[in-house]
Amino acid sequence: MCGIVGYIGNRDAQPILINGLKKLEYRGYDSAGIAVYENGVIDLKKTVGRLSNLEEQIEKSPLHGHLGIGHTRWATHGRPSDHNSHPHMDEKHQFAIVHNGIIENFQEIKEELINKGVTFISETDTEVIAHLLADLYDGDLVTTVQKAVAKMEGAYALGIINKYEPDKMVAVRLSSPLIVGLGENENFIASDIPALIEHTRDIYILNDGEMAVITKDKVELMTTKGEVIERTPFRVEWDIETAEKDGFDHYMLKEIYEQPRAYRETLQNRIDHENNKVDLSKEISLTPEEIRSLDKIHIVACGTAYHAGLVGKYVIENLVRVPVEVDVASEYRYRNPIITDKTLVMVISQSGETADTLAALREAQKRDAKVLAITNVNGSSVARDADEVLLTHAGPEIAVASTKAYTSQLIAIYLLGLYLAQIRGTQEDTVIANYLQAIKELPAQADKLLEFAPTMKQFAERYAHYEDLFFIGRSLDYAVSLEGSLKLKEISYVHSEAYPAGELKHGTLALITDGVPVIALATQEDIYDKMVSNIKEVKARDAYVLGIGLEGDQELAKSVDEVIAIPKTLPLLTPALSVIPLQLLAYYAALARGNDVDKPRNLAKSVTVE
Ligand code: F6R
Repeated sequence: MCGIVGYIGNRDAQPILINGLKKLEYRGYDSAGIAVYENGVIDLKKTVGRLSNLEEQIEKSPLHGHLGIGHTRWATHGRPSDHNSHPHMDEKHQFAIVHNGIIENFQEIKEELINKGVTFISETDTEVIAHLLADLYDGDLVTTVQKAVAKMEGAYALGIINKYEPDKMVAVRLSSPLIVGLGENENFIASDIPALIEHTRDIYILNDGEMAVITKDKVELMTTKGEVIERTPFRVEWDIETAEKDGFDHYMLKEIYEQPRAYRETLQNRIDHENNKVDLSKEISLTPEEIRSLDKIHIVACGTAYHAGLVGKYVIENLVRVPVEVDVASEYRYRNPIITDKTLVMVISQSGETADTLAALREAQKRDAKVLAITNVNGSSVARDADEVLLTHAGPEIAVASTKAYTSQLIAIYLLGLYLAQIRGTQEDTVIANYLQAIKELPAQADKLLEFAPTMKQFAERYAHYEDLFFIGRSLDYAVSLEGSLKLKEISYVHSEAYPAGELKHGTLALITDGVPVIALATQEDIYDKMVSNIKEVKARDAYVLGIGLEGDQELAKSVDEVIAIPKTLPLLTPALSVIPLQLLAYYAALARGNDVDKPRNLAKSVTVE
């Protein structure tokens, strides 16, 4: 993970680097640092802890200069410490580098350098790069970097400066995201767009095996073998305010409230209202013949996106009648999956940079599958590598805990399921029309659900001191329970488990005792009675049950202690609504426990290591 940023131009580099890092803190925040060149010297400030620690340091002794690089870290090799923070430098302070990724053969390179007398001061894989550059330096930064990367294996996005050539900065990428921002008499590098949009909207996205040689008035792109690359810059259309907090206390809350809008954006231009059909033909190039010949679908993703995939299995199997398998991306490659040219592999990723998901995507392509990506970030690695891309249009998601990205992934899955069903003829036109009608109502229904925020706040405040909590549900409600439980764990640090309600009696019921909080989802008509029986089982053990059911359900209200009624919709669509109270519960529980909601401990927004 980690966020990197770099500046070259006429302005003071320090504030630009710090502001850029603030926008990248979601990528990691266990230490931060900057290196700035001035008058033949590269000066370094770095420290363990949040960016605010670094800001305190530089307030006392600022760095001046027009060339610099910065880093916010999420530790992989070496615990968070001052020494392990980036930037890293060689012994003579000739080179400064920032790195996102993992150098897999660093030990080998380190031993070689130690044998040459080099002394290391950190436990990181990154430090070897600084010493390697110093060892290989031939008077030309560009060729030296090319020689160094030829020796390196693993993943890297690198920003490099040296004191002998202060008119340039070099950026290199392999399997970790990196962009170059184009300004007037100034240029930038960063791991992600929000770090740059206050300065420029014109960017180059580096591909694997590419590098950029950046001066204040020129950017040259080339491969790491030196072949020149011609590319048109990419124009970012986002609005800067979209990436800010908009008066909410936390990004997470803002993003929860943005869901109705995100649903509308994801639906936009994809419904042929006149004919009551989904039209994805402008985005998806799979031919009707290819769609008809699919014999199975694999959905592969991580974390919350995986939970969206679990909902996807129900949706696609029901609408399209094609078997769907769902895999956690970090497991997929290692189970020797059975893939044929009739298999469609769907990867789901908010960031489009998750290393495990990318690796699964490449494995699927290696085995001749067509890969369709559902992602939120246009231009991300997943979006570029997949054969087909369906963007979620949720807007930038900054909070580490994913909310609007999850629900807009669900909307994209509904659209895709209906589209495939239309082409394969597995649903009557009237059924498709019913679904479309119900989907169009979801944004307003989601808006209505946000009114439950005070109820969820009260419940969270009463139960936030509990150390264990259970979520139960059946079929789609179970898939949503998994997401509710993950959300609660990751930001409130309350231990929770999600269970298929029918499975409790096979073991977990032993944990249900007087007052234990249980969140029971009961939105699925076909197994409703069985679900109510399961709720009675936990009530009989004196659990305190918060039920989540459909509006008008009197029976559920009688069986539980408190109830949240979600607006009525079709059974397959309920996850897009029932998850909202669970997101609010996690948010308010984290708040009640005094946690840093947007930056939970040990986590980072974009996980670009396997
Ligand atoms: C949890 C969360 C993570 C991500 C996971 C995949 O709230 O955000 O579980 O869902 O790391 O990330 P993407 O979707 O960017 O591939």
